[in-house]
Amino acid sequence: MPTVLITGANRGIGLELARQYSAKGWRVLATCRDPGAASELTAVEGDVDVYALNVDDAASVEALATTLKGQAVDVLFNNAGINVKKGPSIGDIDYGDWAATMDTNVFGPIRVAWAFRENVLASSRKIMAFTSSKMGSIAENTGGSITYRTSKTALNMAVSCLGIELKDRGIITVMFHPGHVRTDMGGPTAPVTAPQSAEGMRKVIATLGPDDNGSFKNFDGTPLPW
Ligand SMILES: NC(=O)c1ccc[n+]([C@@H]2O[C@H](COP(=O)([O-])OP(=O)(O)OC[C@H]3O[C@@H](n4cnc5c(N)ncnc54)[C@H](OP(=O)(O)O)[C@@H]3O)[C@@H](O)[C@H]2O)c1
Repeated sequence: MPTVLITGANRGIGLELARQYSAKGWRVLATCRDPGAASELTAVEGDVDVYALNVDDAASVEALATTLKGQAVDVLFNNAGINVKKGPSIGDIDYGDWAATMDTNVFGPIRVAWAFRENVLASSRKIMAFTSSKMGSIAENTGGSITYRTSKTALNMAVSCLGIELKDRGIITVMFHPGHVRTDMGGPTAPVTAPQSAEGMRKVIATLGPDDNGSFKNFDGTPLPW
């Protein structure tokens, strides 16, 4: 069976991705910052191994890349992210929060993608998926949330560059808006559940081909404007 590696798998969308891929019989390399506190993740049944990974920390990323060296990863799911919900207008920006958001939402996924590229290249599917957001779309911008929006816009450009760089080696990169999802980040009244979001993205991933490299999609597969 194929293998998926997921970042931020201890709660929210990442936990649901781990549950669903495992239920489908995939091997799941589930990563989170603190495995000792990830009781819901460690309770997921199936072929699931839980590893420590802080995407902000280059040493943590390198340590796991060393541990998993030589293991094929069909789908690398860069899901971990933060939204500190500060800096709603330009005058209110907390530059420390902005830098931290860029670290986790942009540098982290790229750091992880590069560290695990040989694992993905060694697989048959060769997919790198990234949880972006419609809030990173300039075409659909309604203002506010500048720290989070800019991080997802920057992520999209970085992944687009990554896709161009790795295209000739058969890698397919895809950026998702997972929906407005009922998680700690999305809030209790969000219209999409984590199971719906994860199922949608899984189904889209199952259909991806080389022409999808560098695409930005809703969780139901609809193309999104940059
Ligand atoms: N929910 C939505 O409506 C929505 C909409 C658009 C996009 N997204 C994106 O979807 C992704 C998942 O969101 P979610 O709703 O599931 O959020 P969530 O419930 O807040 O979960 C975020 C996950 O990211 C992890 N994380 C944060 N910083 C990390 C780091 N430095 N290293 C490793 N893991 C880290 C968290 O781990 P800890 O438990 O250790 O903090 C947690 O597992 C994010 O990238 C988010 O931006 C969500």
